Amino acid sequence: MKIERIYSYQEDDITVHYNLRRCIHAEECVRGLPEVFDPERRPWIMPNNATAEQISKIILRCPTGALTFDRHDDGDEEAIPGANTIRITDNGPLYVHGNVLLISPDGTIIKEETRLALCRCGASQNKPYCDNSHLKIGFQASGEVKDDRSEISELHPGGILEIHLAENGPVRLKGNFKITASDGNSTFHGTKASLCRCGGSGKKPFCDGTHRKIGFSTE
Ligand code: SF4
Ligand code: FES
Repeated sequence: MKIERIYSYQEDDITVHYNLRRCIHAEECVRGLPEVFDPERRPWIMPNNATAEQISKIILRCPTGALTFDRHDDGDEEAIPGANTIRITDNGPLYVHGNVLLISPDGTIIKEETRLALCRCGASQNKPYCDNSHLKIGFQASGEVKDDRSEISELHPGGILEIHLAENGPVRLKGNFKITASDGNSTFHGTKASLCRCGGSGKKPFCDGTHRKIGFSTE
């Protein structure tokens, strides 16, 4: 993981933080509130152009966690999500939304997170986060959930979700979660799963051990 570069934009009611390396230009912010988020302008974020309430609502749509905020009025801070969901994107990353602990291979908690985009093509220079390298390498992977294990569909996907980063291997999920296909049609509910992040698995989004054959390195 590279050193984070975080820029802060402070106004009376809200401070917006922007983590440059986490932004993959999904543009939820630009579409949602162009008067505040305008990549053609400097500074590109101007929080005084909308209310703290409007800005915080849009920031919650940022799927990568590149944007976060602190409220200085009596408005709500970001709530811890009551459910853990992993949305698979076609030819792109895994979008995670939940009460997440990101854990390094040696068991250290790296970060508490609510929104993040995890690389699944294997090429990101900012692993475990997506940095849009899937576009450069022409990564092809459907957003389907293929798995023949039985689903625990009555499971409520809440509580802490631990995401363990295996060295040179997958991300291992521990906790209650739901994985949703890109079309929203199929879901997998579970408490444990290993998700491919080398890009080579034949049963994506799950790991099938291919990372060993291809000598995947998380360095
Ligand atoms: S919504 Fe988040 S990831 Fe998308 S452009 Fe804005 S800051 Fe970047
Ligand atoms: S991480 Fe890709 S097959 Fe295991």
